[in-house]
Amino acid sequence: MTPRKVVIDCDPGIDDAIGLLLAFGSPEIDVRGITVVSGNVPLGCSTRNTLQICELSGRVDMPVHPGCFRPLVRDPIRGLFSGSTGLGRLRLPAPSREPAGAHATDFLIDTIDAAIAADTTITLCSMGPLTNLGVVFRMRPDLVRGVDRLVMMGGAYREPGNRTPAAEFNMLADPHAAHIVFSSGLPITAIGLDASHQALSTPERVARIEAAAGPFSTVIGDLLRFWDRGDVDRFDGPGGPLHDPLVIAFLLRPDLFEARRARVFVEHESALALGQTVTDWYGQSGIEPNVDIVTKVDADAFYSMLAERLAGRVAIPGQ
Ligand code: BDR
Ligand code: CA
Repeated sequence: MTPRKVVIDCDPGIDDAIGLLLAFGSPEIDVRGITVVSGNVPLGCSTRNTLQICELSGRVDMPVHPGCFRPLVRDPIRGLFSGSTGLGRLRLPAPSREPAGAHATDFLIDTIDAAIAADTTITLCSMGPLTNLGVVFRMRPDLVRGVDRLVMMGGAYREPGNRTPAAEFNMLADPHAAHIVFSSGLPITAIGLDASHQALSTPERVARIEAAAGPFSTVIGDLLRFWDRGDVDRFDGPGGPLHDPLVIAFLLRPDLFEARRARVFVEHESALALGQTVTDWYGQSGIEPNVDIVTKVDADAFYSMLAERLAGRVAIPGQ
């Protein structure tokens, strides 16, 4: 089996961090580089967190490229559930290396160009606001042919939003970039709140992952135990939706997901509905569908895979 070549764009963030650990624990995926964006935390902080997570996994070889330091048009907003550092209670040693020199957008352009020159394609994975990708496909719309698929966490399709009644965080954080990406012609699989709200990190599931992680259970526990949104009313119990790792899980086991194609428009003008993913489920716009929207997730199978893949994947900090 030839591993699938991917670039991950992210803003760690606890759930981004778990997504990276899942990718590093999965030989089916060949991560060519990580691009970082401003989102949950400011760019400097998300870059540092990415370097620390790479180090934790023994992946000091992994290129980490910082990208856009703010959204295209709107003012930045930050995540509410990853704590002030972005990694919850987890405290890690300072990274032993600097990020790569090339800007994330240059790295993405060069990587996709190289794939086209070699007559292959790259899979893009997105776990944060779409600023970096919006810039890339505004600068080079022709690069769409070098991407076999964008698998992204973002949007609220039949669910209400999580940051406003209308919008999910990644869409709200840069609705103009999201509009560019959704209009780019890229093949897109969207894992939004409709999917992630089915995959709750219940105390039982967290305990199973910690137990499987053996000597590294403290590291995993420090990340996951912080992820209780305390929103018992909304989620019908303790725990929170573990959004971003679903992107990687989709690449590993697409059979665990069901999707439905529809046209999606990102609202980027109205104040009230900014960042809303307006979805034409029934073809009323007369415009071709452009997104495969994940509607169903086998959450038990997802958490079992996560426990298995995270087991033994991290090095003990400081050793
Ligand atoms: C998304 O928002 C961020 O806070 C998470 O990391 C995830 O990417 C969920 O709405
Ligand atoms: Ca994220």
